[in-house]
Amino acid sequence: MEKNNQENIIKRRDFLRISSVLAASAFLLPLGRTNVYGAILSSQKKSSIPSVRLNNGVLMPRLGFGTNTLNGDVGERCVADAISVGYRLIDTAHIYGNEEAVGAGIKKSGISRDKLFVTSKLWVDDYGYETTKAAFQTSLDKLQLEYLDLYLLHRPRGDVKGSWKALEELYETGKIKAIGLSNFDPDQLAELMTYARIKPVINQIETHVFFQENIPYASMKNTVVQMEAWSPFAAGRNNIFSNETLATIGKKHNKSIAQVCLRWHFQRGVVAIPRSSQKAHMMENLVIFDFELDDSDMKTIAGLDLNRTQFPEWG
Ligand SMILES: NC(=O)c1ccc[n+]([C@@H]2O[C@H](COP(=O)([O-])OP(=O)(O)OC[C@H]3O[C@@H](n4cnc5c(N)ncnc54)[C@H](OP(=O)(O)O)[C@@H]3O)[C@@H](O)[C@H]2O)c1
Repeated sequence: MEKNNQENIIKRRDFLRISSVLAASAFLLPLGRTNVYGAILSSQKKSSIPSVRLNNGVLMPRLGFGTNTLNGDVGERCVADAISVGYRLIDTAHIYGNEEAVGAGIKKSGISRDKLFVTSKLWVDDYGYETTKAAFQTSLDKLQLEYLDLYLLHRPRGDVKGSWKALEELYETGKIKAIGLSNFDPDQLAELMTYARIKPVINQIETHVFFQENIPYASMKNTVVQMEAWSPFAAGRNNIFSNETLATIGKKHNKSIAQVCLRWHFQRGVVAIPRSSQKAHMMENLVIFDFELDDSDMKTIAGLDLNRTQFPEWG
């Protein structure tokens, strides 16, 4: 009896916390605004996270949930938690080894498939026309899904051309709603454009306050390829969560360093996919739509750019 009461209290507390976060994050940006890529923005139905319209017309949430290193039971729990607090974009990849866990988390959340935007990525070992099609089906099966919202070539290596052709065909069958790239530099992106029948909608690259990637940023803006930030917090490297400059800006707006970082990505028009294993952080990271960094904040953050990767070991 006492256990039941306690569970009820915890459920009620959870509900109140979630409601207050959702209420706070419901201060939406005006609808129909244009982002730096010239894409039309609109709010998602029944979600507090605004969307961007990709170059093929598909709507994508502008803030999502990253799952690298969230494996097994932890992965399943985190994905279910993330969906329960309001995330709709879930980012995984074959190489993370957690597609089953992500699929289980989606199932556990009880959300209907059409409310979600699920991304996965083809690993380089599977590049090539035939192997790409087989690897895609394996990912789909592991995720227990009938289609993916977005499928990316994880890295620009090997038979990119053969894999892209396979992605184009899968896209045409409707098994993937949008196709894109990850870790392509401007030259590699330009090369793919020379033979692509179907343009990539997105390029997911490392970008955060310490690696602002202004050249790819400008190049993607010109080609209407949406930029998406992996490791939007530099995975905590370079002491980002105790950076004094970011803390000072946060104090000014009564926001945390994490929220300042995510708001900065949002104002640049970059989709961010922060990862967290903690429900409190997941919720905190959603409350970025009720304040605005001013020009001087943006200028100060521009000054934090070290113009180099924080992950040199990934080559
Ligand atoms: N395409 C690619 O090649 C590529 C490469 C890397 C990553 N990615 C994608 O990008 C996603 C995000 O990148 P990432 O996982 O490297 O790291 P990240 O999102 O930059 O940072 C994650 C770290 O931030 C901490 N954190 C999250 N919210 C916080 C908050 N509010 N306050 C304090 N700490 C907070 C997390 O700790 P807690 O767990 O304690 O909250 C975790 O240690 C990945 O999960 C993956 O989906 C793609």
